[in-house]
Amino acid sequence: MANQFEYKNFTDDKNYIKLSAEVMAVRARGDRPLACIRTYGCQQNVADSEKIKGMLSRMGFDFTDTAEDADFILFNTCAVREHAEDRVFGNVGALKNIKRRHPSVVIGLCGCMMEQKHVTERLYKSFPFVSLVFGTHSLHKFPELFYNAVTFGGRVYETGVDDKTVYEGIPTRRDGTFKGWLPIMYGCNNFCTYCIVPYTRGRERSRKFEDVVNEARSMIEQGYKEITLLGQNVNSYGKNLEEKHTFAELLSEIDKIDGDYILRFMTSHPKDCSRELIDTIANSRHISTHLHLPFQSGSDRVLKAMNRSYTREKYLDIISYAKEKIPGLSLTSDIIVGFPGETYEEFLETISLIKEVEFTSLFTFIYSPREGTPAAKMDDPISAAEKSKWFSELLKTQEEIAAKRCASMVGQTVRVLVEGKTDKDGILTSRTSGNIIVDFPGSDTLVGQFANVRITQARNWILKGALA
Ligand code: SAH
Ligand code: SF4
Ligand code: F3S
Repeated sequence: MANQFEYKNFTDDKNYIKLSAEVMAVRARGDRPLACIRTYGCQQNVADSEKIKGMLSRMGFDFTDTAEDADFILFNTCAVREHAEDRVFGNVGALKNIKRRHPSVVIGLCGCMMEQKHVTERLYKSFPFVSLVFGTHSLHKFPELFYNAVTFGGRVYETGVDDKTVYEGIPTRRDGTFKGWLPIMYGCNNFCTYCIVPYTRGRERSRKFEDVVNEARSMIEQGYKEITLLGQNVNSYGKNLEEKHTFAELLSEIDKIDGDYILRFMTSHPKDCSRELIDTIANSRHISTHLHLPFQSGSDRVLKAMNRSYTREKYLDIISYAKEKIPGLSLTSDIIVGFPGETYEEFLETISLIKEVEFTSLFTFIYSPREGTPAAKMDDPISAAEKSKWFSELLKTQEEIAAKRCASMVGQTVRVLVEGKTDKDGILTSRTSGNIIVDFPGSDTLVGQFANVRITQARNWILKGALA
């Protein structure tokens, strides 16, 4: 089974980057071609957009947040919930007027939504002004696809081609200068019954161990203070590699690199979250004391219907081991409310679980049926109004827990990474190792640096402090 994927280096044999640069130098409305890239969805998409920006930079592009000014507008889309899709369709519709005002603008769509046939069919029919469409598997072909879209005048659609290759060396232009994303694997094999991701991103494939470690080292050398390792299920890292490595091994190898930085990762799946991983975090120098471990539901029956492959008991078991080993551990999770067939009693098991664990914060979602997933065909008798009542109950419960947790931190001195300025004069915003936000007064020169801050006040889930 090992290595059913190919590993290749990104190449641009036919010089599409150079050719695109030549075309765009003439075609741009201003001195330099401008691109407006809008990213929806998760960090996986953010990381993909950083690669697209890397390739565009080499084509001579600069970047703008204003679609009206751009020569190239690209939406990197998310398909995880209906709401995410609706937003994209709405926003693409609005681009029609820009295209009318500036006929030379190239409008493109990429990302997870483009790997769904019903979406691309609808786009093709209803949005003729979109001239470039490509899916998550075609990122490495972006220079060629872009060149074709600008020169041939027709519409370029490249989706649904899973070529089972991991490409290294795609140019990357990271958005942040001190916080960076580092994908360690792509795709997902879990097929949770509600989830579209395995269909939009294909089978799970890990990057090679040395490639990840080398990239981490180079980021640390470049001065990155926070690196987040990315994957849909980082705990199963390495399973397809010829040379076997676990995720815990990868973390400890990166942790050995000297420097002042914090190492984060997401997302962990409870079924593969090993004691070895918890021990690695506990014994590390750089790994954050934060574990994002989505449990989705507190009911064993619902977990089974979701195909999550763990029980409430197993989840609580790993949580209590982690709490015991990692002092000050901060826990976060994802939860789905109103999975098809979930009863109020089952929902109450989710409530009792969050009370038991006491998470720092939660990402909570009302179930959204996704075409092509098994759950979309299940009976779903509970009304939207009822689900939304449950959802409010969940939020209220978590608010009380978060407030209590935050209040318990008042008086402590914590090390934070200063992330930026707030809109209040002289107030900075920062994050603890446990991923909790702390605002405090300080000078702009601290941005991008670590600082020690004494917590003076807790307001819901945001802390206020003063330099210690
Ligand atoms: N790979 C990650 C999550 C990726 S999607 C993991 O397994 O934890 C992020 C979150 O979106 C999921 O954890 C889940 O809570 C939510 N989600 C996914 N599909 C959904 C759907 N159809 N409806 C509602 N929420 C969904
Ligand atoms: Fe989706 Fe489950 Fe894979 Fe996460 S683990 S991406 S929820 S299928
Ligand atoms: Fe969305 Fe794709 Fe991420 S569906 S959540 S952008 S993997």
